[in-house]
Amino acid sequence: MDKKFKRTLVTCALPYANGPVHIGHLAGVYVPADIYVRYLRMRGEDVLYVCGSDEHGVPITIKARQQGCSPQDIVDKYHGIIDRSFKDLGINFDIYGRTSSKIHEKNASEFFRKLYDEGKFISRESEQYYDPEAKTFLADRYIVGTCPKCGAEGAYGDQCEKCGATLSPEELINPKSKLSGAEPVKKKTTHWYLPLDQYEGWLREWILEGHKEWRPNVYGQVKSWLDGGLQPRAVTRDLDWGVPVPVEGAEGKVLYVWFDAPIGYISNTIELLPDEWEKWWKSEDTKLVHFIGKDNIVFHCIVFPSMLKAFGGYVLPENVPANEFLNLEGDKISTSRGWAVWAHEYVRDFPGKEDALRYVLTANAPETKDNDFSWKDFQTRNNSELVAIFGNFVNRAIVLTHKYFDGKVPSCGELEDIDREVLSQIPGLRSSLEKNIESYKFREALKDAMSIARLGNKYISDTEPWKVAKTDMSRCATILNISLQICADLAIAFNPFTPFAASRLSGMLGITAEWDNLGKTDIIPAGHGIGEAELLFTKIEDDQIQVQLDRLDRIRAEREEAAKLEAARQVEPQKEECCFEDFEKMDIRTATVLEAERVPKTDKLLKLTIDTGIDKRVIVSGIAEYYSPEDMLGKQICILANLKPRTIRGIESHGMILMAKQGDGKMRFITPQDAVANGAVIG
Ligand code: MF3
Ligand code: ZN
Repeated sequence: MDKKFKRTLVTCALPYANGPVHIGHLAGVYVPADIYVRYLRMRGEDVLYVCGSDEHGVPITIKARQQGCSPQDIVDKYHGIIDRSFKDLGINFDIYGRTSSKIHEKNASEFFRKLYDEGKFISRESEQYYDPEAKTFLADRYIVGTCPKCGAEGAYGDQCEKCGATLSPEELINPKSKLSGAEPVKKKTTHWYLPLDQYEGWLREWILEGHKEWRPNVYGQVKSWLDGGLQPRAVTRDLDWGVPVPVEGAEGKVLYVWFDAPIGYISNTIELLPDEWEKWWKSEDTKLVHFIGKDNIVFHCIVFPSMLKAFGGYVLPENVPANEFLNLEGDKISTSRGWAVWAHEYVRDFPGKEDALRYVLTANAPETKDNDFSWKDFQTRNNSELVAIFGNFVNRAIVLTHKYFDGKVPSCGELEDIDREVLSQIPGLRSSLEKNIESYKFREALKDAMSIARLGNKYISDTEPWKVAKTDMSRCATILNISLQICADLAIAFNPFTPFAASRLSGMLGITAEWDNLGKTDIIPAGHGIGEAELLFTKIEDDQIQVQLDRLDRIRAEREEAAKLEAARQVEPQKEECCFEDFEKMDIRTATVLEAERVPKTDKLLKLTIDTGIDKRVIVSGIAEYYSPEDMLGKQICILANLKPRTIRGIESHGMILMAKQGDGKMRFITPQDAVANGAVIG
């Protein structure tokens, strides 16, 4: 343990309250933080664990508008859902606050005001887009238009969701306000900026020199920001949802969401501990650790520390163990496209299996690179690791103790080599586990814990106490005593990772899990009575997995359908102008298909015999991909009758069938709305 510090303040990125949390959030931020906190608490450390909802920002206002409700309605709804799913997964913050609270508004406002009064900001006038009809400035997201890169409609002023290009509103072709549809105009406005450039030297010293131990992904990102040179950053916005800027003449302006949200960590601490919060934020012996995803690195390593530094008196993060991203079945998780496994739905669909998710997300944690979650892997890890190794071992040890020793821990006799061998490995695994958690390597730490389970499972299989019982009860006693000590080790070691199972195991064994006991050979004394065996983990069947895979398949299919329609929308540019006489030259008429057959050895061609009202004739048409001969029989169509005859595959084709052709190549023939006589002239 780190003796430099007396207490640890752990924060988790405040999730935006405009949607539920998904497995990407859990794996990236909340599960690792929870492991860390549970571990420190078991070690007797003084820990404060703070989180809450991030309830400001433009996307929340857009969602509210779309749903015809207020931003407060939106955040109330998702705050509730998110709070519940954290609790259900055993992630119990000391406080889960919200940035729409009064305490936060006051705290963030005072924070800004102090920096303002001390001249820590610069103000600048700039031109921003303004909606002259709605009479309001427009955030980039509120401006839509045609993407200059790919031509898609509906690109946002900051990004095109179609091609992923980062845009600025100036680049949009035909920009329109999302609010009123009016064309936005530029208007002058004043904002306050935090001059990050002034903190560059200090940041270099503090992070690049002082924190070389930070994860390479975090250190590297910080370095490249610093090497690129920092610019002043606006900390206010023209918007009507957020913390009002506490300055005269700043009506209609709020603090930028990325300015107020991290202050939320402090506000939430104040809410929880109104008299003691400063101890957590302002004493040098507090170790502050921010758990975040990689998209938050710049805010937690550069912007927020600069804010704290400007304010003065605050501790700075000792570490920022940011994770990379988790993908789902090979594709990037996307809230807007519904490509996610939602925490609250998981809890509903897999009741009692909270630990399985925590386990799999840790085993696959995207600590050093992006990683993938797949339902098959989830099932395999649950069934062949949690159930078949950990659960199976514990079950055998406890059942056999009841069978042969009436549920009382038998006493340990003389040790054999195999006993010494297995017992001697546990202290090493313990110290590796500790070292790994303390250096934020949670995957490795979980492997250490799992190694203890494997060791136990192998030990009981190798020693076969059920056979030994037939000949040597005292040897059987020794084996089961050792097995039960290992079960106790597991109840301790797994506590941070799978807290529900670990505490049930402690319950069965009748022990309190104390970290200091991990690896001792006399955790449970002989004669101690243990409870009946209950299954720690249960198998996940194929049909449960199939339900999840089917759901994802449906989302994929919907997405492909939408992409197809989008592709189909790509219209051809209008042809060059022509005159009425040009059109008059074309003899377009109605006709009916009398016979239809495929042209042999071709995929695309149908040979159609048609009644044109003037004659019966043959037309060869390239529609076989879209229509079978049966589809065409008896259909009334439109043809260009006076097209010069052509020979196609040895068949003389006399005319052309009129087809509507979509952007993606799909074709449909044109038919009169009601039947008309064949040969009716179209024009
Ligand atoms: N809401 C942000 C996100 O989900 C995280 C905010 S973290 C805080 O990306 F520090 F600003 F609170
Ligand atoms: Zn685009």
